[in-house]
Amino acid sequence: MDFHTARALLEWQMELGADEAIGERPVNRYEVPAAVAKPMVAALETARPIPAEVDPVRAAETAATAADSLEALAGAQRAFDLCELKKGARNFVFADGNPQARVMIIGEAPGRDEDIEGLPFVGRAGQLLDRMFAAIGLARSAAHAKEALYITNVLPWRPPSNRDPEPAEIAMMLPFLQRHVELAGPDLIVLMGNTPCAAALGRKGILRLRGHWAEAFGKPAMPMTHPAYLLRNPVAKREAWADLLAVKARLKEAQ
Ligand code: URA
Repeated sequence: MDFHTARALLEWQMELGADEAIGERPVNRYEVPAAVAKPMVAALETARPIPAEVDPVRAAETAATAADSLEALAGAQRAFDLCELKKGARNFVFADGNPQARVMIIGEAPGRDEDIEGLPFVGRAGQLLDRMFAAIGLARSAAHAKEALYITNVLPWRPPSNRDPEPAEIAMMLPFLQRHVELAGPDLIVLMGNTPCAAALGRKGILRLRGHWAEAFGKPAMPMTHPAYLLRNPVAKREAWADLLAVKARLKEAQ
């Protein structure tokens, strides 16, 4: 194992809460001594029926469709145990802002700050997102639907070290996202970056998709570059401003 891999693994363990090394040598707790392996496996097989394979996407669909309010949906998603990301996350991150808002923003997944606070888009990228939408008169804290924002992510749990979400994780959370949009009922959706475009449109390539209206979950959807990208590439803010103006114009048209 090279230095960087070993360091990344150690950091991951520290994020999970490990704060002490308690042995000099690694222990493989999955290893079964050869002498007992066969009888033990046989005993386990007779003692416990092997559970039928659970399809996580079907399980998510069943849980999501049964939810008849945003509170019920949050409860069902929080209780969903088939996504491995849940095990490594500190907090479940469902949504923030005003569920009555005409505009619903869908981001990728919680990062470090969101995982700590349990709310979406509260770190540096989130602060930029707030400033961007304030420039067109929208805020997550607004009480009135016309000036409000409702914000969620494709994934409610932080991926380890902020890695890209796996297609299987996106597929598993998609029924919850679809139901989330149905229950919130926004007039339009903003897809922030590649992951929500992959989830909602089945397409990637945000630099080509941005600025063009699409349809997601039966609603008009504007793909935009993610604020984290804008922090790294400030020149792209000009295009993001054009996209924000397109959102503003569409809201005005649909009034
Ligand atoms: N990036 C996202 O896509 N969502 C968050 O909540 C935070 C950062």
